[in-house]
Amino acid sequence: MACRILIVDDDPVVREVLEQIIAGAGHSPDVAKDGAEGLRKATENEYEIIFTDLKMPRMGGMDFLREIKKASPGVSVVMITGFPTVETAVAAMKEGADDFITKPFNIDSVLSIINRLIGARGLLRQAKGGLTPESVKRLNSELFSKVQKINLLRTISTEVDDLSHNSELYEKIVGMASRLLFAREVSFGIVESDRLKIKKAVGARKDEIPVAGSILEKVVKSGRYYLAAPGEVNPHDGNLLRSQMLSLPFAINGEVFALLNVGDKADGTSFSDDEIGLGLTFVRKLALRIENNALYDVFYSSMVSALKSLVNSIEARDSYTKQHSERVTEYALQIARAMDLPEDEKNAIGFGGYLHDIGKIGVRDTVLLKEGVLTSEEVEEIKLHPVIGDNIISPLKFFPREKDLIRHHHERFDGGGYPDGIAGEQIPVIVRILSVADTYDAMTSVRPYRSAKSHQAAVKELVRCSNKQFDGQVVSAFMQTPAGKGIRPERP
Ligand SMILES: [Fe+2]
Repeated sequence: MACRILIVDDDPVVREVLEQIIAGAGHSPDVAKDGAEGLRKATENEYEIIFTDLKMPRMGGMDFLREIKKASPGVSVVMITGFPTVETAVAAMKEGADDFITKPFNIDSVLSIINRLIGARGLLRQAKGGLTPESVKRLNSELFSKVQKINLLRTISTEVDDLSHNSELYEKIVGMASRLLFAREVSFGIVESDRLKIKKAVGARKDEIPVAGSILEKVVKSGRYYLAAPGEVNPHDGNLLRSQMLSLPFAINGEVFALLNVGDKADGTSFSDDEIGLGLTFVRKLALRIENNALYDVFYSSMVSALKSLVNSIEARDSYTKQHSERVTEYALQIARAMDLPEDEKNAIGFGGYLHDIGKIGVRDTVLLKEGVLTSEEVEEIKLHPVIGDNIISPLKFFPREKDLIRHHHERFDGGGYPDGIAGEQIPVIVRILSVADTYDAMTSVRPYRSAKSHQAAVKELVRCSNKQFDGQVVSAFMQTPAGKGIRPERP
């Protein structure tokens, strides 16, 4: 059945490509440059299907969608969106859009949407003349697939955006793919030197499989999905497939870096066009997320190593504080474990503890390395190091907790510390912990102007200063740790 189809887009290239695809399939295309022109044309002519862009001058896609659904409720509307605007596509479908297509699109996906809509419209026409059990069943399955698509998009957007570690993401990818495509065999792997390194799988067992010579090679080389038929070789175990297996590529800049393989459908059916479309939407959204995480990982680890080398340079200058930061971090972590602190606070100690004295880089050697008693001016200069450290780390907005550790590790529980004189619970708990660890290590280390205190003497001093300089609860927790019982860490 030939259809009249209106294309509303301000991009002449998109209009032309869609026009050619639609005319090539035997339908009658018409074009409009924006929502206002589209609305005028739609009131003058009758169209079965309208493709509309989201972002256009004069009248945007969402406004156009609302107006057109008021003017001609029977028309099917397909939104044209770019990634990563999946949330907008969900909103559009709630407003009554029948489907959406993401740029850049290919002929197959455009035609598959048109054919699906023509089928649904035929059923609706039949329905107007009286519903048959067969048409109700098909309408239901259309509705089911639409609802499922909306749910999928919402789930991906909300669940995945919170995951900052790739390992959690891989687990989520496999779990969601299994649920959404009713598959009992799912694997997600990274393509590395011609092998697929499986990061997470259900039903598949090997850790690594060769790409060359397998059906996976087609996907990696072409960047397009491949639907393997029963009888082809299953790359996971070398046996012949008993049912279809769908291999979906994750690509960044046209380069395939990972594959999601989905097979052994629990309902025993083949993969429908809709399901393949769902799978493709799923991997496109996730490819962006994985890329972001990978960039963040690279950024974070290079930042951490740059800062650590700064700390090493301070410790290289000052042999007395050598490895002080490392020991303080270890003691503080022991206390944090004893107090059962949440993982993110322990991570902040693990990194921030190492950096707490980073501001000493701004203290002159003649003061920092002075043997003998400091003058009051020199003491004031040393006391600047928490603020100098804060100034170093502040431009890196990623580390708010670490910043607290650096700025406040010389505050006192009773408010008598520096630089801000904050007290009690105004001082974050990880800072109160670091303060105990820092002081314990300073007391038990040899200094230029005095010898080290014994473990017992240092603990006695901590207890004496409980609820004055230190939070008493933190001092009690320290007593439960190996360090608090006098066991020195092996390495530091
Ligand atoms: Fe310090």
